[in-house]
Amino acid sequence: MKETNHITGSGVSLSGTPLPLPSLDGKTFYIKTFGCQMNVHDSERMAGLLSEEGARPVSEPGEADIILVNTCTIRDKADQKALSDLGRIRQVRKDGPESVLAVTGCMAQREGEEIFRLVPDVDLILGPSQIRNLIPLLDTVSRDHQRVDGTLWPPPDMTTPPALRPPGITAFVTIQEGCDKSCAYCVVPSTRGAERSRPARDIFQEAEELVSLGYREITLLGQNVNGYGHKGDSSGASFPELLRRLSEISGLHRIRFTTSHPNDMSDELIEVMASSAKVMPHLHLPVQSGSDRILEKMQRGYTLETYRQWVTKVRKNISGVSLTTDLIVGFCTETEEDFRQTMEAVEEFCFDGAFSFIYSPRPSTPAHAWADTPSREVAVERLERLQKLVEKQAEARNGKLVGQEVEILVEKWDEENSMAIGRTPQFQTVRAHVDAPSSPPFPGDLVQVRITQASRTGLRGRLSPNA
Ligand code: 5AD
Ligand code: SF4
Repeated sequence: MKETNHITGSGVSLSGTPLPLPSLDGKTFYIKTFGCQMNVHDSERMAGLLSEEGARPVSEPGEADIILVNTCTIRDKADQKALSDLGRIRQVRKDGPESVLAVTGCMAQREGEEIFRLVPDVDLILGPSQIRNLIPLLDTVSRDHQRVDGTLWPPPDMTTPPALRPPGITAFVTIQEGCDKSCAYCVVPSTRGAERSRPARDIFQEAEELVSLGYREITLLGQNVNGYGHKGDSSGASFPELLRRLSEISGLHRIRFTTSHPNDMSDELIEVMASSAKVMPHLHLPVQSGSDRILEKMQRGYTLETYRQWVTKVRKNISGVSLTTDLIVGFCTETEEDFRQTMEAVEEFCFDGAFSFIYSPRPSTPAHAWADTPSREVAVERLERLQKLVEKQAEARNGKLVGQEVEILVEKWDEENSMAIGRTPQFQTVRAHVDAPSSPPFPGDLVQVRITQASRTGLRGRLSPNA
């Protein structure tokens, strides 16, 4: 049965009664995705909604009746990429009243109707919280033959739309949406709304279904996953409890999660990561800066010393843990001394990986109006120094793995090269040669691999003979 949508939009009163939804039978759709894993999964959910209505995916925008461009707006570059892609797509889209071009995601939410001015032939916009309204919104566009600003529709309930995932071994599962933190640089609280957790029983049910479909690893998604349960209806579960319960699902080999916030860390989470064989020893814990003055200006809510204490506990208790991070350079007022402290922190914590970015002022964030942002040249030069250090550390760390045996979860079998491709518990990709390809490992198998070669970007190995 279709869920009831408590929404009113463009003259359609939908309250209380199930919608007579249009069938998209025979229609085709194409989705282009920009941005983070949340966005990738949002696209899977929109694909799920469209498929449920009978539409089928195509791989070229020119073949599609419905085109969705799912955008990101975290930095200015993300906006530029989406706008340039939209410029290309509008040239190739089908003609005719049946063709719909929709801009979804964070840029759509932030820009609102401005999108219609920037890309004149867009028919529909909707933000990340509006995904569940996709089908009625498309219906409104086709029936009224007018542009629709879906960001103005009241958000629907938290029911999780069905996702159409690519077949495989690993799958994303949303556990939390939105963000209640107030980092001065970040647009996410305004694009994804207030933090809300999804009921634990729904998450559990989805994970069980995924396992029955052959998935063996799930990645729990949220803006601050380790704050799961603080807001919204989690059915009383905390994040460590959720991990514990998911670990009990038989046939599920691995559980990952991203992103965590230093202020939502707990001893209990460390304890679960240390004790559950299924919760992978990988923590992505953004530090953003090594300078307390900058951390305060960023409104991160912790000092470097607090961050250090968590790193110490995590490394002491979770055997073989890998720790990755996000870093921003060139934030408002950042001096050479602040940046030196960031470099020093990276030296000290010796991260297993780091995403580093130049600060990009975003409209509607507190920092947007602040002065004294280092020049582009200074920021580029700092980013280069930082990335060199991170790469040097990654190369040294990967080098130490040569000769060691690691367990990988096979995600793909490359027949042509007799290679099993998978990841270590710490999330490093390994391409492992198989000597006896007559009985190759299957995707979904956990196998032992001896590492034979390491570079900054990846590892090569050989399947251990007795595996
Ligand atoms: N400019 C640069 N980087 C940003 N991030 C978030 N907002 C901005 C911004 N305005 C980075 C942070 C965050 C990651 C997802 O993106 O490091 O952790
Ligand atoms: Fe993801 Fe943030 Fe980009 Fe939105 S703005 S797609 S939440 S990275």
